Amino acid sequence: MTRVVLRVMFITLVATMVSWARAQDDVTWAKRVDTGKEVVTTLQFYFHDVLSGRNPSAVRIAQASQTNSSPTGFGLMNMIDDPLTIGQDPNSKLVGRARGIYGSAGQNDLSLLMVVSYGFIDGIYNGSSFSLLSINPAINPVREMAIVGGTGLFRLARGYAIAQTYSLDPSGDAIVGYNVTLATYI
Ligand SMILES: *[C@@H]1O[C@H](CO)[C@@H](O)[C@H](O)[C@H]1NC(C)=O
Ligand SMILES: *[C@@H]1O[C@H](CO)[C@@H](O)[C@H](O)[C@H]1NC(C)=O
Repeated sequence: MTRVVLRVMFITLVATMVSWARAQDDVTWAKRVDTGKEVVTTLQFYFHDVLSGRNPSAVRIAQASQTNSSPTGFGLMNMIDDPLTIGQDPNSKLVGRARGIYGSAGQNDLSLLMVVSYGFIDGIYNGSSFSLLSINPAINPVREMAIVGGTGLFRLARGYAIAQTYSLDPSGDAIVGYNVTLATYI
């Protein structure tokens, strides 16, 4: 009888420890699911592109001589170091940064070429990054972009990001929501 009770207590303790360990690993903005063949990670965060003010996170680094006469700013390039947060509020928890370049690559429609590394600092994702390389038709409320690789937990990642503009003010400052799906090997 005591043995059974002890065994039940032991199993309960182990189960508690396992769920505690899981909770330690967990972040609210991302989820990893092992499908048996691969790991599918879904991430949800907000990207803050700040062009205005004294400390812009996006700065112009180049433009073509024709850029000013182009309705789409064709040839313009910005370097970014944009915060990634858990919520739409720029003051919500910082989970990473998007670093790289975007440039106006469309002559007739606003089409940004994004060459950006999204690096994370939160929970088990601290130190992991994925690389996005895609055209971003930024005028569309929702767009899809390709993810071509990654580091850390995202080694050999392939996937896509669904981006949705949450706010855009006249200075060009934008808050964009990202839903990302990544497949990696186990
Ligand atoms: C992320 O990792 C770095 C380097 O290992 C460490 O200094 C930092 O404290 C970690 N940050 C968090 C939030 O765990
Ligand atoms: C992103 O994911 C959230 C939560 O699943 C969902 O509510 C939202 O509609 C998604 N956004 C887009 C643009 O798919």
